[in-house]
Amino acid sequence: MQVKTNDAERQLWKDWIWEQYTSGNYGNGFRPCAYMTPAEIPGKYSEYDTPHLIMTYTALLSLAILRDDFSKLDRPGILKFLRACQQDDGSFSALPSGAESDLRAVYCAFVVSSMLDDWSGIDIDRAVEYIKKCSSHEGGYGQTPFGEALGGTTYCALASLHLAPSTPSSPRESRVTPSERSRTVRWLVQNQTASGGFRGRTNKDADACYCFWCGASLGILGASDLVDSEALASFLAQCQHKFGGIAKAIGERSDPYHTYLSLAALALIPPSADASWQLPQLDALWNAKDKTVRWVRDHVPDRSDGTPQEH
Ligand code: FPP
Ligand code: ZN
Repeated sequence: MQVKTNDAERQLWKDWIWEQYTSGNYGNGFRPCAYMTPAEIPGKYSEYDTPHLIMTYTALLSLAILRDDFSKLDRPGILKFLRACQQDDGSFSALPSGAESDLRAVYCAFVVSSMLDDWSGIDIDRAVEYIKKCSSHEGGYGQTPFGEALGGTTYCALASLHLAPSTPSSPRESRVTPSERSRTVRWLVQNQTASGGFRGRTNKDADACYCFWCGASLGILGASDLVDSEALASFLAQCQHKFGGIAKAIGERSDPYHTYLSLAALALIPPSADASWQLPQLDALWNAKDKTVRWVRDHVPDRSDGTPQEH
């Protein structure tokens, strides 16, 4: 496959991302950007510019996509940061000082643990309990307990439940019971509208990003055969903007978020007939190419305690 970036560009992006890597009282992580940090203490944060959990997830995944060697990564520092972000109710907040805490941050903590292949930064049982509390009567999962079912947070819940290894009180295979699975599959399937695209919640219009959030959720539940894949591809093709990229809906302007998630949806659920635009294999749980997952497995430094890896 043709790579559209060159080594010099990739190096600049890697260098910039590592410049956001900071350490301090709550461990190590990545901040969104440099604007709050005084220049005289590079690499150190204060109480007011701590790392951010969602940025830490996107930074590590971006570094993997850029094929970084991860030699600058301090594993214990990241695990300490995860511990500082978990709340008493099992959820995670994006900042250790306690910002909004919800399923998005839970998912990020789970992917970071999966990338490090080390779950000692998370109380899995408490986090699983929190995720289950976010399940709504409709079948999807809300952003927080008692919230409205949303496609994006349903993906965060299902991916997290499937990523974390079993614990004695929470075996992985029992986390979604058959009846819970049926309810969730039913809700997800009825979100594919007559347009061919998926909506993110009841009574809304289809939006390209939910073709990934709902489509990948169905994939995780082993039900992607229930998606009308031809209609899905046709909807996304119509969301293309004449100057490039893919928009959230037909006739809207494109943006990188909807462009990426549309391609990710098509990679997971390709239309059966069209072989002309085959996309690389995608890992539904990490939302990353299989090749990127392998890169992480091969390049993130091993656990120092020598315990066997569980993927
Ligand atoms: C409603 O948006 C949507 C949310 C409040 C959150 C959705 C969550 C995700 C997309 C998952 C994000 C995942 C990570 C890892 C950060 P809206 O009110 O604009 O309405 P919509 O229902 O029309 O989209
Ligand atoms: Zn969208």
